[in-house]
Amino acid sequence: MSQSHDDNKTSKGLSRRKFLKGFGLTSIGVAAAGGGILGGVIPDGTTNGTLVGPGTTSITLNVNGKNYTINVEPRTTLVEALRDHLHLTGTKTGCDRGACGACTVIVGGQTLASCLTLAIDVAGLPIQTIEGLESNGQLHPVQQAFINADALQCGFCTPGLIMSCKNLLDHKNNPTMDDIKTATSGNLCRCGTYPKVFEAVLNAKKA
Ligand code: FES
Ligand code: FES
Repeated sequence: MSQSHDDNKTSKGLSRRKFLKGFGLTSIGVAAAGGGILGGVIPDGTTNGTLVGPGTTSITLNVNGKNYTINVEPRTTLVEALRDHLHLTGTKTGCDRGACGACTVIVGGQTLASCLTLAIDVAGLPIQTIEGLESNGQLHPVQQAFINADALQCGFCTPGLIMSCKNLLDHKNNPTMDDIKTATSGNLCRCGTYPKVFEAVLNAKKA
């Protein structure tokens, strides 16, 4: 027997139409192709089941240890929030569809493709971007190792690669070459700097 849309309720009493309309409160994650980067939902309870949108909503992002309160549409991706709202342009947009890794950031200890992550889904969680790595004027050891190994050419992929390598070393202080290749497999470098990147990580782990 067919049901009308209004009768077609979810277990929480929302009609299918309202559920789909409020879909902006969460995102569907798609893992970056073959990579160590995850794209997707990190439930933080910020929206607490409340439907938001289609207009702007106020959220607070914790980026590199500072809180920023901004008004965004629910469809705003994390990379858009970082670049267009916070003017943190170190995180790059390459493909804007989870394929290149240029937009990699670290959220709650895991790498995410920020082009696949809605800003509202990571409100309140610790977000680290390339701008947050240096400390008191000192580059992070991974950044310095990239320079020492000459591990960049045009540099467009470099912030994303550094975030993937930094996150690897945060979790494993003595990674193997296989670990390094797996961690960076979601980061595409058109200039082909991979051998130098691997060398940089092997040097950074000593530091
Ligand atoms: S994976 Fe996000 S811009 Fe390419
Ligand atoms: S250094 Fe140019 S794309 Fe990687």
